[in-house]
Amino acid sequence: MRDFLPYAVPDVGEEEIAEVVESLRSGWLTTGPKTKRFENDFAEFVGHGVEAIAVNSATAGLHLALEAIGVGPDTEVITTTYTFTATAEVVRYLGAHPVFVDIDPDTLNMDVAQLEAAITPRTRAIVPVHVAGLPCDMDAILAIAKRHGLRVVEDAAHALPATWRGKLIGALDSDVTVFSFYATKTLVTGEGGMVVTHDHRIAKRCRIMRLHGIDRDAFDRYTSTRPSWYYEVVPPVSSTT
Ligand SMILES: Cc1ncc(COP(=O)(O)O)c(C=O)c1O
Repeated sequence: MRDFLPYAVPDVGEEEIAEVVESLRSGWLTTGPKTKRFENDFAEFVGHGVEAIAVNSATAGLHLALEAIGVGPDTEVITTTYTFTATAEVVRYLGAHPVFVDIDPDTLNMDVAQLEAAITPRTRAIVPVHVAGLPCDMDAILAIAKRHGLRVVEDAAHALPATWRGKLIGALDSDVTVFSFYATKTLVTGEGGMVVTHDHRIAKRCRIMRLHGIDRDAFDRYTSTRPSWYYEVVPPVSSTT
């Protein structure tokens, strides 16, 4: 049999193995101190005052982001024809409709010249995808979004640490940016993702909704200055919009 050419072999060293073993020994097998550290380090790396919320996949992150900005039944979300299925799948989870804009054959990213024609009164958000880490024309996309009062959620599953005009993807003026740490991505946790936003209300909503609507995660409940088992399940209440 001919040798199989692997698509992306993860680069896992002794340091990573030691961290996993330490986690197993620590008793924190769920979202805990290392997740907090990762979120803080990631937010600091992206800079510009963003908050970072760790999730179990970019798919979950995109789902949370769209929910937080008010995508729901009878709304439309514009995205690209050339992406992984997750980008449009999450729009359907929320009962909304994905609207596809064709790509520019030179970049494989959304053709911004065709974007405005796809906007209707039901459009709520644009989800550009930075295919293979090549940033979309974010100046044009953000300008169109502003002109039409639309939200922008960047699917940056491939785009760590890509930059647009010298700024890291994640630090631009979009409402939310979502990264993937799936096994084939540039930063790997096996399965995982990060939601990044400048908007504290969106960050708060994503934090609550990533944990079943519970207002205090286990780490907070057991490590705060007044540890308590008590929590509230706060949704359904409206999201940030
Ligand atoms: C463009 C794009 N968006 C979203 C995703 C979903 O990422 P995840 O596997 O972390 O859910 C992927 C995964 O490959 C992707 O390529």
